[in-house]
Amino acid sequence: QFMRKMQNEPILEYKKGSAERVALDAELKKMAATVHEVPLRIGDKKIKNKLERNQVMPSDHKHVLAKYTHATKDQINEAIEVALIARQKWERVPLKKRADIVLHAADLCGGKYRMQLNASTMLGQGKNIIQAEIDAACELIDFFRFNAKFALDLEHYEPISTDVSTNQMSLRGMEGFVAAIAPFNFTAIGGNLASAPALMGNVSLWKPSDTAVLSNYIIYEILEDAGIPSGVLSFLPSDGPVFGDVICASPHLAAVNFTGSVKTFKTIWRNVADNLDKYVTFPKLIGECGGKNFHFVHPSAHLDSVATGTVRSAWEYSGQKCSACSRMYVPASIWPQLKEKIAAIHKDVKLGDVRDGSIFLSAVIDGTSFNRCKSYLDHAKSGKDGAEVVLGGGCDESKGYFVQPTLITVKDPKSKLMTEEIFGPIITVYVYEDDKVDEVLSSVKDATPFGLTGAVFAQDLKFIEKAREVLRDAVGNLYLNDKSTGSIVGQQPFGGARMSGTNDKAGGPHYGIKWLSAQTIKETK
Ligand code: SER
Repeated sequence: QFMRKMQNEPILEYKKGSAERVALDAELKKMAATVHEVPLRIGDKKIKNKLERNQVMPSDHKHVLAKYTHATKDQINEAIEVALIARQKWERVPLKKRADIVLHAADLCGGKYRMQLNASTMLGQGKNIIQAEIDAACELIDFFRFNAKFALDLEHYEPISTDVSTNQMSLRGMEGFVAAIAPFNFTAIGGNLASAPALMGNVSLWKPSDTAVLSNYIIYEILEDAGIPSGVLSFLPSDGPVFGDVICASPHLAAVNFTGSVKTFKTIWRNVADNLDKYVTFPKLIGECGGKNFHFVHPSAHLDSVATGTVRSAWEYSGQKCSACSRMYVPASIWPQLKEKIAAIHKDVKLGDVRDGSIFLSAVIDGTSFNRCKSYLDHAKSGKDGAEVVLGGGCDESKGYFVQPTLITVKDPKSKLMTEEIFGPIITVYVYEDDKVDEVLSSVKDATPFGLTGAVFAQDLKFIEKAREVLRDAVGNLYLNDKSTGSIVGQQPFGGARMSGTNDKAGGPHYGIKWLSAQTIKETK
């Protein structure tokens, strides 16, 4: 019966005057009127230390939304000890019961906490209403529901028993603890990184991003409200290198579940390698990293789909989805028309405060991100690599970290604007000669070390077939005649290949298996 009920959480539209819009506006007002205190959570303890750190609103950086603290080394070590004790009971709780807790959490997200999840994601992480709703409400609920379903499906497998032996598989969690290191850009990812291992019987130390502390803490409270026992999840905002050093030095590190930059993920691998002789088990390293995602346009492409898809992929949430398109290949024959179409949409793309219901995008996440975007804009404006700023190009951090949605063209497909990850609302276009289409398609894969998402737009179906072959190893998520963003749990399991990550496909049926260290038992009759 549960299987029949599985469906993705419907997206609420928040139309002006609707009940949900009224409720969300009230929550935004209430949430913005208070400075929220976010404690560390270790076992039964709520620890505030000095609360010396601020989470500010990206679109109004003088506005402090939350105060929090970084866990000390000792506190992280204490959380490991508490987790290992909690594990002894938790991993023996039947899977069905653990799944019920996660399913209850999904209902709580869709019910009494929905507006808090959305408001904290809007105010704290700079998402507009719909971008918050598809992330902090729908995707989070979907992760919880689908993971529970996939986990229960795993129980259906029974090894073959014979007349001489009875064979069983016990779906144990891993011995040790999981470190869940979460990004700022999707609230739902933080919830998934920490809860998916817990669902499978593990204990997780959850390090949220400093710029998403409030929304991640709300998820922690939801899971607690749903019945996750104390100690199974610890909530530990921390300095990245301190957290990394402590978890990697623990003999009980069972896995790292990471979403963030390639650089940090490599640091974790090196750290684990340095500590290899200490571990009780080989830690599993699961990572979702960056990208330099592309839209490849064939001369036969449907121009309106390319224009709308590109605007959405490159500029929604200020290009800060890991899947966002940031390089594009367009044939010379259609570029003038396509440019006009994108420019026409660009005119109406509004940048502003998240509480303004008519904005398309808001500020980038913080000063570091703003400065990075600015340096790429300055590079483009200098004309290096034949760069020309075609749309946007401005930025202003006087009130919030605002970067205009920008389109740049370059003459060199190997230039830094075409190959380096920017993580802002900036797309670079390389216009190619139509007769070079096959050659250019072949160059896309090795133009960067990344392999997260990519999209091909063509009405010529033979070309689509060719692109499938040529791009077989190029990306973890390939889109044909659709934009490179917007994967949906259970529909497009998500994960990057190559240096974009270990490609473990969150939102898919195989994800849960990563969190098991099953025991096979043969008993002779
Ligand atoms: N799932 C997101 C998307 O596809 C990325 O994390 O945009």
